[in-house]
Amino acid sequence: MTARSSGTRRYAEPVLHISGAWQRAARGAGLLASDGSLAPTIFAEISAAAVRHDAVNLGQGFPDEDGPADVLDAATRAIRDGVNQYSPGRGHPDLLAAVAEHQQRFYGITLDAGREILVTAGATEALSAALLGLLDGPDDEVVVFEPYYDSYAAAIALAGARLVPVPLRWPSLEPDLDDLRRAVGDRTRIILVNDPHNPTGTVFSREVKDEIVRLAHRHDALILTDEVYEHLVMDGRHVPIATLPGAAERTLSISSGGKTFRTTGWKIGWVTGPADLIDAVLAVKQYLTFVNGAPFQPAIAAGLRLGDAFFDGLAATQRERRDLLGEGLRAAGYAVSTPAGSYFTVADARGILPPGQDAADFCRTLPERVGVAAIPLTAFVSAAHRRDYASLIRFAACKRTEVIAEAARRLAASGR
Ligand SMILES: Cc1ncc(COP(=O)(O)O)c(C=O)c1O
Repeated sequence: MTARSSGTRRYAEPVLHISGAWQRAARGAGLLASDGSLAPTIFAEISAAAVRHDAVNLGQGFPDEDGPADVLDAATRAIRDGVNQYSPGRGHPDLLAAVAEHQQRFYGITLDAGREILVTAGATEALSAALLGLLDGPDDEVVVFEPYYDSYAAAIALAGARLVPVPLRWPSLEPDLDDLRRAVGDRTRIILVNDPHNPTGTVFSREVKDEIVRLAHRHDALILTDEVYEHLVMDGRHVPIATLPGAAERTLSISSGGKTFRTTGWKIGWVTGPADLIDAVLAVKQYLTFVNGAPFQPAIAAGLRLGDAFFDGLAATQRERRDLLGEGLRAAGYAVSTPAGSYFTVADARGILPPGQDAADFCRTLPERVGVAAIPLTAFVSAAHRRDYASLIRFAACKRTEVIAEAARRLAASGR
């Protein structure tokens, strides 16, 4: 209830009980507290502890260095040149052309830049608009590989649909084909793939991707693929699921410039696929943000046109950081998975957890005890499956190499 006193409006506790779709989103993301309020994310809690204890923050996945100078210069040039008003609804023509060139250059995918590409406010908006636009209530199911990036569950819940998880189990962190076959059925509207995968670092095998396409055909489902780590494949090369036989006609592929060009704050993403599916996403997207980040769009276009040395360098640098981090974690007594892609390494703390503690308790004290911050894997898992991931921790190796080396040194010292 609101209280009035002498003409000024003050808010007393508790405020109005606010009902609405936000509750579905919060519940979907595991953030609806038992008193009905919005709980803070563990990311915020751990980041605050990292600041308090001057810890190396390997929790949230954002870089600590700027992107390539050509990309930054293109953005400032665009601002000075007056690219400061609404861009066209589907995106700046230069970025649409650059995305089409990029898909052709790296993957041999031919796109009609005017109809088969939509620029979005980061991959996050592309995901939300696609899920909201293509799902239609409680009879629709979305198959998701668990653990999963937290926005998936919130957007699926907002759309009123049902999330059906396929577990990625320690230590392989690969999906089991029988689990996958059991999860997909005639109610499956979308199979949501994140390859390379956050938080596990898994790169999906050809066999798994073939099976996803086969099942999508069999049950007339769509494939939605989140490829924001496409240029961070350390072993081998990224193979978009849209390039597999029979996939393109039913696949929407999402990516963004945030991770590739170390510009996560710019929020420039895109979705590509068949024109009628893109139109369905556009129908929702245009009423979420309409458009965003006009001067950043030509700058990301410049990034997508950088030479091979830049893209090869990304993977090579990430491999070095992954290996440094892995050594530190092993020296500290963790069992460590070696990720094939993304920023992330999952480590099992079972051997070093104090009695009665799980990884979430452990991560809360890690910044103070060790000077490193990381996120328990349970942050990416539905409530029903948290026990299966209770000793696992995600470390993000996306800071400068010397910072990762310092984190590895601190971790190794904690194991002595
Ligand atoms: C798997 C995955 N998808 C999407 C995003 C968000 O991308 P963007 O910042 O472009 O919205 C992230 C960011 O961490 C991510 O890890």
